[in-house]
Amino acid sequence: MDFGAEALIEAYRPEPGACASHGLSQERLAFCVEYGGRFFSRGLAHYRQAMSAIGFGSGERLLDIGCGTAHWMLAALEGYRSVTGLDSKKEAVYLANRAADTLGVSDRMRAVVGSAHGLPFPDGHFDRVISHGVFHFLDPELAMSEVARVLRPGGAFYCGVPGPGSRIVLSLAAIAAEDLDSAEAQLRKFLGGAVRRTGLATRVFSDMRSLQVQDYASFGAANGLMLTATPGVQDVEEAFPNLPWSFDFVLKAPAKAATRREILQARFHGIGEEPEAFLRRLLRACLPRLACEAVVGDWLTLEAAGRARLLGLCELAMNEEPDGRVLDEAAAAMAGDAADHAYFQGLRALAAGQLGEALANFRRAAKSHEDALPLAGSCLLRRRDSRALDVFRGLLGRQPDRVWSVAGFLLAALNTGDRRLIRKAVRMTTERLESGIVTRC
Ligand SMILES: C[S@@+](CC[C@H](N)C(=O)[O-])C[C@H]1O[C@@H](n2cnc3c(N)ncnc32)[C@H](O)[C@@H]1O
Repeated sequence: MDFGAEALIEAYRPEPGACASHGLSQERLAFCVEYGGRFFSRGLAHYRQAMSAIGFGSGERLLDIGCGTAHWMLAALEGYRSVTGLDSKKEAVYLANRAADTLGVSDRMRAVVGSAHGLPFPDGHFDRVISHGVFHFLDPELAMSEVARVLRPGGAFYCGVPGPGSRIVLSLAAIAAEDLDSAEAQLRKFLGGAVRRTGLATRVFSDMRSLQVQDYASFGAANGLMLTATPGVQDVEEAFPNLPWSFDFVLKAPAKAATRREILQARFHGIGEEPEAFLRRLLRACLPRLACEAVVGDWLTLEAAGRARLLGLCELAMNEEPDGRVLDEAAAAMAGDAADHAYFQGLRALAAGQLGEALANFRRAAKSHEDALPLAGSCLLRRRDSRALDVFRGLLGRQPDRVWSVAGFLLAALNTGDRRLIRKAVRMTTERLESGIVTRC
């Protein structure tokens, strides 16, 4: 099974006339060949080591979702009876199967065209599923439920995704190349993801694929999968201390399949988490419907005030036109606590697009709500108001360990269009990143 780099690159060469005979795009095929070549020139040792580092060195049936050029699949062949790949790009699937044929392993390795959102495999079919560099393109909740479905009880899922480190590096590179639009797009994605964790981000930025390990852990938990490890396997060199390019995690399926209700109840009782904290976490993980079900259904016992407050938050997170009565009840339940009340009113105003009012409320809530100041900054950024720079400069002082302080400051500087200021902001943020102060998202 130890194919050398040359044999791999050779096996990965398309047969003459492949595009016409298999209905492939010349351009995409050339891209896949070039992409695969980069991985194969390394040999498979790197991926074998990675597989054993994550505890996936051997097993029965493995599925690679978004297998691309099949380097993970080829590395897995040694330890598995059968290896299946799935990719939405038919050029990648053609090349993976061509490599399997040429290397004489097609009886144990096959790739199919398909979508991670609807896996063409029966329930409980695989004991291992991996997906590297793919989940940030997907609807993560849907894809996770599919992973949970095809995993057999006791099976495990390994996932690696680009993280905030990559967004920061890519935006700094884009600024250096004077491609300010692409720098802005990267930073907005990061900040959007951070704001999403407040429970309401879909109203804040449009592209929300900047998730973190706790989000995926919550999607997993909602489908009965438990986070068991974050191995830190890296495909790309680390860019800054504490901020690796990507993050990864392993989720395990329970030995016996459980219903969703059992999963939530067990999770809530098992970890002894306060109901409100638990539901907030569901909201932050963008599972408002589930959170709402848990509050409205008789699953959890909440005091009246907690229930009203959470229902209000669920209402805001779920509905374009939230039910005014539910929101009024929630606001009344929070009237006793000025900062909570202001925070909620800020979220309410943000959902309604009333940025001025949202801003005033978030400022009021800033002392006791860690999220309130960045939310105020994001309101200003949306209005392209130059005061966003002051908010994020302040955040760099107050929350120096957070990526969102750095990303927000850079974005605010970009929005001013002042090149001297942008250069200064880049210098300042790079120093912070290099010194390793920034550790949290
Ligand atoms: C960045 S590549 C990663 C490939 C490989 N796993 C690796 O680690 O290099 C992302 C791959 O995901 C595939 N992909 C994107 N969306 C997909 C979907 N909805 N279902 C299946 N594959 C998808 C793409 O075609 C592409 O091959």
